[in-house]
Parts: sequence; C-alpha cells; structure tokens
Amino acid sequence: MANTGKVKVGIIGSQFEADIHATAFRLMPEDAEVVAVCSPTPGNAAKLAKHYGIPRVFTDYKEMLREPDIEMVTITAPNYLHCQMTLDIAAAGKHVVCEKPLCMTLEEADRMIDGCRKQGVLLMYAEELFFTPKYLKAKEMADQGAFGKVYLVKQSEKHFGPHSSWFWDVSKSGGGALMDLGCHGIAFCYWFLGRPEIKSVYAQMGTYVHADKTKGDDDTFCLIEFGNGAVGAVEVSWGKRGGMDDKIEVFGEGGVTYANLHMGNALPTYSEYGFAYAVEKAPSTQGWTWPTYEELWNYGFPQEMRHFARCVRGKETPQATGEDGKVVMEVLLAAYASAGQERKIRMPYQADRTKMPIELWKSL
Ligand SMILES: NC(=O)c1ccc[n+]([C@@H]2O[C@H](COP(=O)([O-])OP(=O)(O)OC[C@H]3O[C@@H](n4cnc5c(N)ncnc54)[C@H](O)[C@@H]3O)[C@@H](O)[C@H]2O)c1
Repeated sequence: MANTGKVKVGIIGSQFEADIHATAFRLMPEDAEVVAVCSPTPGNAAKLAKHYGIPRVFTDYKEMLREPDIEMVTITAPNYLHCQMTLDIAAAGKHVVCEKPLCMTLEEADRMIDGCRKQGVLLMYAEELFFTPKYLKAKEMADQGAFGKVYLVKQSEKHFGPHSSWFWDVSKSGGGALMDLGCHGIAFCYWFLGRPEIKSVYAQMGTYVHADKTKGDDDTFCLIEFGNGAVGAVEVSWGKRGGMDDKIEVFGEGGVTYANLHMGNALPTYSEYGFAYAVEKAPSTQGWTWPTYEELWNYGFPQEMRHFARCVRGKETPQATGEDGKVVMEVLLAAYASAGQERKIRMPYQADRTKMPIELWKSL
C-alpha cells in the first residue's frame, strides 16, 4: 500500500452526506483523492461517480474493501450500519472516517474502538463543527482568555426534519432530533471547553410536530454540567420551518461571542420568482430567504476531510476520534434516560450497553 502521495479514499454511500464528502475532497484536493464509491441501489453510486469523476463504482462495500490501494474509507450510511462497516473496514486494513453519531449503543462504540485499535488503523469521527471556521475562531478567542472563565456554551441546530426515511425510523437511527443533531452540540460543548469531565446531564424532549412520522423526539433541550464549572446547552429541532439554523453562543465572566453559521453569512434576499438554492433544507427560494455561499467551507467539511487524510499520512494527529464519538454516545444515553425518568442524570451513567438512546426514553 502506498504511503506517500495523495491518500486514496473510498466512500460508502452515495446520497446526501456522500455528496458532501465528495465535494469536500474536491475542494481541497492536495492530500486525498476519491477513487471509489459504493451504495447498494444500482445506478446511485454510478451517478455520484460520474458527477465527481470517481473511477470505481461498487454496489457491495465489501467488494470495494478488497481494492488494495484504498487507504481510507468514509462511512456515509445510516447509523445502524456504522459499527459493522467500521469493523469490516478495519479488518481490511483501512483507516475509518465514520459519520456522526458514532453508532447505536455503547457496546458498538467499544467494539469499533477496539476493532480499529487491534487492526492498527485510525478511527476518525466526522464531527465537522471541530473544523467550522467561525466556531474555531470563537474557540481560539476563548483559549486566549478573551472571555475570562467561560461558564456557558450553547449550540443549536434546527430544521424541519431529515431528508431520508431511515432517520425517522428509530430502529435505524437510534433516536430523534437529539441523536441526529444534538450529537453535534454535545461534541461541540465538550470540545470547546477542552474535554472536561462530565458531571450531569438533563434533557427535556418531546414529539411536538412529527408524531405521525416518528417515535423519536423532534424538539429537545439538553443541559450538560461539566466538572470545570461550565454548562453546555444543546438545543435541537426537527420542527423548525424555513431551512437550516446552526448557531453558538459563548458566555464568560469577561465577555461573550455569538456566531450564527448560516444567517450570519447569508444575503438577506427577497425574490418574487425564486432561484436554484438558498440553504440546506430550505423548502423554497421565493419570498424572503437567507441564501448562503461557500456553505460546505463555512461548515468546515473540506478542512475536516483534509485533516483526516493528513492524519493517515502521519502529518497531523486526529482531532476528532472514536473516543469523542463514544463520549457523545454516553451523553446521548444519559439525556434520553433523563427525559425518560424526568430527572437529572449523574455521570458516569451506568446505561445498559446494548440499548439505543431512544429505548431509555420510551418503550418502542
Ligand atoms: N456531519 C453532518 O452534518 C451530517 C449530515 C447529514 C448526514 N450525516 C450522517 O451521515 C450518515 C448518512 O446520512 P445521509 O444523510 O447521507 O443519508 P442518506 O439516506 O441520504 O444516504 C444514505 C446512504 O447510505 C447508503 N447505504 C444504505 N445501506 C447501505 C449498505 N448496506 N452499504 C452501502 N451503502 C448503504 C444508501 O444507499 C445511501 O446512499 C448518517 O449517519 C448521518 O447521521 C452527517
């Protein structure tokens, strides 16, 4: 296997997030190139491959894993497949980039981390908020002491619900909006504050808008109490109309900063006639909209994928790992248990390691 030059990448999946990964590698092509893509529905991977000039196409990911030159595989498949795919990729001797959330249960998280360690491959957790330029600037200022002692970090992600049916099926997703979107906020607060010990978790959740579609929560508040005295507040929704909203607020005794990822970079626009695209999950481009530009760059996806490729070459150390993904899973489990038991959960929470977060909120 080559260990110089561009890292050869295979992508599992060919839809929403696969498109983002393919674009990300194309935007920062110095360190990696996508050489293969696979997904089971005939024609889908071929379509993505044609669009991005990816030379090899597979319908069975295990066949793709037999390609000797592929060094890193990114998983953009539904959550319930992450664990087995990670184990198969690691067994094939290739480095893993796993999309969020890491998996469905703590038992899976352990198997993924152990499996990659035993095979001597990296397990990198695709949390792009660690690479979002605006959010990195906020962290840089906080680390330089701009806000003094930070006591509250908030992250919020809201839209009107996911694009694919499997997200709504909790047996395939493991949970609702908190699992899908809150995994970002939990990871963000933990990372922003320097990965402190987690003391307690509290969540208020409900299914307010989409009870006809899902047993998962569609709007949730989650409070995380950290050992360093700070609080993380994660606010997520699948019930908010009008397209994606992603923002942070940081409060310290010496200052404050706010960052609104999309609206803050957008062009307030009115159009009678509409146009092609405004922002992720915006249902319309007519009337008032907030079209964003360089959306993937503003999120940090190209920077994230470049970083992972550089980690494979030993030029950088992974900034987002399987262990980070496991911490997020621990908080998710505690949050769903908190809603289920209507109380604050002290950490470490001794959850059943085979249970999905949703199972700790309500019986399915
Ligand atoms: N980082 C982010 O902001 C972000 C955004 C969206 C999705 N995601 C994550 O990415 C993952 C995929 O989400 P998505 O939105 O792309 O979903 P999607 O439904 O758009 O695409 C899922 C893809 O997985 C493929 N797939 C299903 N079973 C497969 C199998 N056995 N082998 C190979 N491929 C298989 C499907 O064919 C499809 O191409 C999820 O874990 C999701 O949470 C992350």
